[in-house]
Formats: sequence, C-alpha cells, structure tokens
Amino acid sequence: MKTTSVDPATVPHRRLRSGALMPALGLGTFGSDHVSPDEVATAVKGAFGAGYRHFDCAAVYGNEGRIGQVLQGLPRDQLWVTSKLWNDKHSPRDVVAACRQSLADLRTDYLDMYLVHWPFPNYHPPRADVTSRSPDARPYVHEEFMETWAQMERLVDMGLVRNIGTSNMTAPKLELLLRDARTAPAVNEMELHPYFQQPELFSYVRSHGIEAIGFCPIGSPARPLRDRSPDDGVDIEDPVLVGIARDHGVHPAVVCVKWAVQRGQTPIPFSTKASHYTANLQAVVSDPLGEDEMRAIAATDRDNRLIKGHVFLWKEDQSWEDLWDADGRIAT
Ligand SMILES: NC(=O)c1ccc[n+]([C@@H]2O[C@H](COP(=O)([O-])OP(=O)(O)OC[C@H]3O[C@@H](n4cnc5c(N)ncnc54)[C@H](OP(=O)(O)O)[C@@H]3O)[C@@H](O)[C@H]2O)c1
Repeated sequence: MKTTSVDPATVPHRRLRSGALMPALGLGTFGSDHVSPDEVATAVKGAFGAGYRHFDCAAVYGNEGRIGQVLQGLPRDQLWVTSKLWNDKHSPRDVVAACRQSLADLRTDYLDMYLVHWPFPNYHPPRADVTSRSPDARPYVHEEFMETWAQMERLVDMGLVRNIGTSNMTAPKLELLLRDARTAPAVNEMELHPYFQQPELFSYVRSHGIEAIGFCPIGSPARPLRDRSPDDGVDIEDPVLVGIARDHGVHPAVVCVKWAVQRGQTPIPFSTKASHYTANLQAVVSDPLGEDEMRAIAATDRDNRLIKGHVFLWKEDQSWEDLWDADGRIAT
C-alpha cells in the first residue's frame, strides 16, 4: 500500500454559506471503546503529515485534550477543526462554557465549525446499552432547540466559532430551523454510506445551501456490538463495491470514500492506520470513479441506518424510527 503524502491544495473543498472553504475529506476521531485517545492523537498527527487538514472532533469522544496536544504543534491557519456540543449541554447557560471547554482541550482560540451533536437534549452515559433509557428523556422541542441555537449564533458573534451546523437532523426539523434561525446551519453531519444514502435528505440539505458531512462513510465496520442489528449489511463486502475496488486495485473502503466525495458529500472516515488514512486521502485526488460505477453504487442503497439512536427515545413503546421523522412529522 502506498503511503505517499498528498498536497492539501489538491484536495477538493466545499464552499460554505459563510464563504469559508472546508476540505471535502476529514479524519474522524471517534475511537469508541476500542481505540485510545493516544492512538487517535497519533493518527491526527500522522494524518496531518499525509495531507489531511480537516479533523472531526467532539467533546463526547473523550479525546479532545489529547488531540489538542497534537494540534497545538501544527499551523492553526492550515487546519479545519470541528467540534460538537454534547446533549447534556443544550441549556442556554451551558453552551458557551461547553464550547470554551472544547477550545481549551483542543488548544485553539477558535473552531472552524461547531455542531449541535444531536437534536435531543437527552443525556445517556458513555457506552450506554441500546436498551437503556433516561427517565428525563424528552422529544425534540423546537422552542428549546432554538434557545440552544441562539447560543450557537452567539458563539459566532463572540469570534469563538466561525461556522455553525447541525448533526443528525431531519428535513422537518431543519425546515423549522431554517425558518427561525438568524444564522442558518452551514452543514448537517449525517450518516451516509453506500448502504444508507439518504437521497431525500441529501438533496434537501444541498438545495438549502447546507453541506452534507457524511459519518460512518465506510459503514463503520468496527462499531461496537451495541450499535449492531441483525439485519445490518456490510458495505465493504458488497459485490458491487468489491468488484469496483478490484478494478481500481484498492480496498472497498477506498471506493466508499471516492464515491462519497464525487457524490458531493464530505466524508470523515476514521482510521488509525497510516496506510488506510493515506489511501483514503489519495482516493479523492486520483483515479476517479466513472459514471457507470457511480450509478452502480447508487443502486446498492438499502436504507440501512446503522446508528439508530435508541438511547434517545423518550417513551417505553417507541421504535427508533420515531427519532428520524420518516413520515415527515416530528414525533412528540
Ligand atoms: N455526528 C455523529 O453523530 C457521528 C456519529 C458517528 C460517527 N461520527 C464521526 O464519523 C467518523 C467516522 O465514522 P466511524 O468511525 O463510525 O466509521 P467509518 O469511518 O465508516 O469506518 C471506520 C473503520 O473503517 C476502517 N477503515 C478506514 N479506512 C480504511 C481503508 N482504507 N481500508 C480498510 N479499512 C479502513 C477503519 O479501520 P482501521 O482503523 O483499521 O483503518 C475503521 O474500523 C467518526 O470517527 C466520527 O468522527 C459522527
């Protein structure tokens, strides 16, 4: 496997509504329960050397302090650093303090992007089982979300954050946010991979000037057991992807990344292996997929959501589908 670095200037970028240019490929940093903060921080350092400039961080990943030790040694003006507000910090009095904590941990004066990680203010402990429910859990309440969002807008006014966005939002929720926000979200971070292409939401966000950042772009093959369901597919074992990968002489994971960037998403694949994260970056600057290959991958979609969000449910008899407003209405 080649490990030659890539010139960051050759990596595609997305222009956001603020005019900012965001690299169209980032490194995910969620080590989950099997990759330590040290290992993730080492990957961030290595990935910078390989040509990555975009790093997708979050307070809840529990490793921002360690990643910050690496970032402080890198030229800040060349980096795109995203962080996320966790669900137990939605209260208007908590948002600025939570952002300041991420800034301190990441050892930076500002964030390029700050996201509301989930639209629900429902706290659950790290590594919570899918069956666990918080007695305080609530549905999405738009008026409350707008109070959180007003603080996100304030972070921009304060110069602590340059762009703000959402994560795990649906079209009905975004519709309300776009109606009521002073500053519209620049991005929505959402699950996107060949087996879960979300064509309607993808097209909705793009037609409203919102860039789609795609998480689990490879189908998160190493996700913990609690995030696995018996019916889940494995994208990188799909015969179409395996065949295209063979034709290009790459791993199917690399095909997922090529497809994502060519489709117009901004994937944020996670890897701690230099050969893997370098191959993922090289994928977006060389040997593009043909139109037939793009069409063949589009046809592999099986609406297979992996991160279902069970722990956010607020009633006993609910199904995880209620979190995603599939019928066009926000569940209450
Ligand atoms: N906003 C949200 O709610 C949310 C939710 C989930 C995730 N995220 C973000 O999205 C990022 C990515 O999601 P994810 O980590 O769940 O899944 P992913 O990126 O789809 O998959 C990561 C897995 O793919 C493997 N891999 C990566 N490149 C490879 C290559 N070239 N060849 C072979 N295997 C390769 C990695 O293994 P190796 O380490 O062995 O290479 C790792 O096990 C997270 O780290 C996080 O930053 C956000």
